[in-house]
Formats: sequence, C-alpha cells, structure tokens
Amino acid sequence: MNHGHARATAHANIALAKYWGKADPERNLPAVPSLSMTLDGLRTTTDVYFDTMLATDELVLDGVSVSGRPLERATAMLDRVRASADCATRARVESANDFPTASGLASSASGFAALAVAASRALGLHLEPGRLSALARASSASAARSIFGGFVALGAGASEAEAVAPPEHWDLRMVVAVTEPGPKAIGSTRGMDRTAATSPYYPVWLSAAPPIFEEVRRAVLAREIEPLGEAVEHSALLMHASMMAARPSILYFAPSTLSVIARVRQLREDGLPAYFTMDAGPHVKVLTLPRCVEQVENALAAQPGVHQTIRCGPGPEARAAPGTES
Ligand code: DP6
Repeated sequence: MNHGHARATAHANIALAKYWGKADPERNLPAVPSLSMTLDGLRTTTDVYFDTMLATDELVLDGVSVSGRPLERATAMLDRVRASADCATRARVESANDFPTASGLASSASGFAALAVAASRALGLHLEPGRLSALARASSASAARSIFGGFVALGAGASEAEAVAPPEHWDLRMVVAVTEPGPKAIGSTRGMDRTAATSPYYPVWLSAAPPIFEEVRRAVLAREIEPLGEAVEHSALLMHASMMAARPSILYFAPSTLSVIARVRQLREDGLPAYFTMDAGPHVKVLTLPRCVEQVENALAAQPGVHQTIRCGPGPEARAAPGTES
C-alpha cells in the first residue's frame, strides 16, 4: 500500500570558491568554506513513494533500476528522513535529470537535494531549508548548496548552507563545455581523502581557501566580474594543484580541458569577460555576462574535443512540486 508520495525538483550548482577536503569525515563536514551558483539549466526531478509492501528501498535513475553504491547512498538519506519521522517504511525513488547524464556532469548535488525534499515531504515533514540542507550535506556536501537558489555559501565545518544572494541579484551566465572524458576518474570523496592523506600541498590549500572564499563572496555581492573571475580561477587551480600533488596523483584534466582553458584565456585577451572553473571531471565551466554569452558559447562549441555546451543562469531553490503529496 502506498503511504506517501511527493515530487521535488533541485538544480545543480557549480562552486565559484571550491570545497575540497573534510573537517569531519564521519559527519561529512567540509574543511574549507565554499560558495556556489545554483544553475537553472541543470535540473533533477525526484519522486519518492513510501510503500509498506516494499521489503527494501528501490532506486530508478533516468528510467533504469540501479543497485550497489548509488542505492546504498539513497537508503542512507532515506534512513535519516525515516528517523526524523519515526517511520520504518521502505521507499521507491524515481529520479531523472533534464541534462544528459552520459555527459558525466555531476548530478549528485541536485540529486541529493531533490531526494531530501521529496522524501521528507512524502513523510509529511515540513522542514526548514536549513534542516533540508543539513540532510543533503550528510550525503554529499555540495548538495547542501543546491537546497538554495542563486548564490550560496557553505562555511568551514558548517552543517548547513546559507543563501548569500537570490538568483535576481546578478544575471551571470555559466556555459558548461562538456569535453571528451579522460581515464575513468576517482570519485570526489575518495579523491579528497587521498589528497588529505598524501598531498604536501593540502595544508597550503586549507590555509589559502578561506581568503579566496572571502574574495569570491565580496565580488559576488559587489557584482564585479573581473575580481570574481580572477578568484574563481585561482580557487579551481589551487584545488587541482593540491590533488595533482597527491600520491598517486589525481588528475581530472583531459587534453581538451587544457585547450578549452587556453581558448578562454584568448577570449579574455580579445576583451571578453570569460573565466573558467573545473570540478572532479574533465569538463570546463565558463563564467561570463549575458551580453557576451553567445560569443563565448560559440567559441567553446567550435573548440575540438567539446561535445556539447549548456548555457545556464542563476537557478532557483529546491522545491516540492505542489499537489504531488499524497
Ligand atoms: C570539486 O560534494 O561530491 O565539486 O561531500 O564527499 O560527497 P562529498 O563530495 P562532493 O564534492 C564536490 C567537490 C567539487 C567542488 C565543489 O563542488 O565545491
């Protein structure tokens, strides 16, 4: 028998000041402060059905039934929500992305944010955004930021993210250049553990990240693209430098990653405001302003090794779809 259903949507986010490393691996608390932009172009929609007939939780991602690690992570989130609602009923989770998952773009942030909202609503809980963010953060720290729209911060050691400015604050653009994947990448959790354990540059990253976060926050609040872009690139490259210096090295860059970076620098020499950032994968995300987005996107799309470009603006907070609760 079906005991509760809700649907929720959440958007992916890209960090402008990066999170890499944990203050507390047990509780999944971040070691450094991060600041992201939620993206309107990349959305996850998740349905959760609690059902007393189910013996175990079930997970369907983009129409395909999955087990193993993804199901375990969904169950861990459902267990936390069940504990809050004092409920033992298993659930079927159906989650779909409106962006190509084959692109290798991280969908865990929007996925866990949507799951936190849908699962809690399905059990009749009306949690504050801060509580939802803490739920999402326990699964994946970057997911804490996807609960909020616009520009969002997650402090060092913080349990929940907080809104810095709403989407209307600044009409920025982020163009995602989906490049050809390199060798199979290591997941971010394991990559962070290895960086912390073996990279001589990890302590440098820990002390340099907070002032970069402050620069990013100041530039976002002041709507100044030049100092923002400069700090965004520094944050990404410093993070990648710390992981490249791990043993064995963690290298997410494909050859096309570097050629896209070179193209972005060239665009800047031509006078366009365009700044790059990269996460735990080979794709490059390019920050720019609406008046230049066409030109920037065309330049990236014409670059060898770029399979697809996705244009994004500041996106909304995670929300339950009205009328789906039963
Ligand atoms: C490079 O949030 O995926 O995207 O908390 O271990 O699940 P876990 O890590 P995750 O790490 C994201 C790292 C990043 C930078 C960022 O989003 O801030």
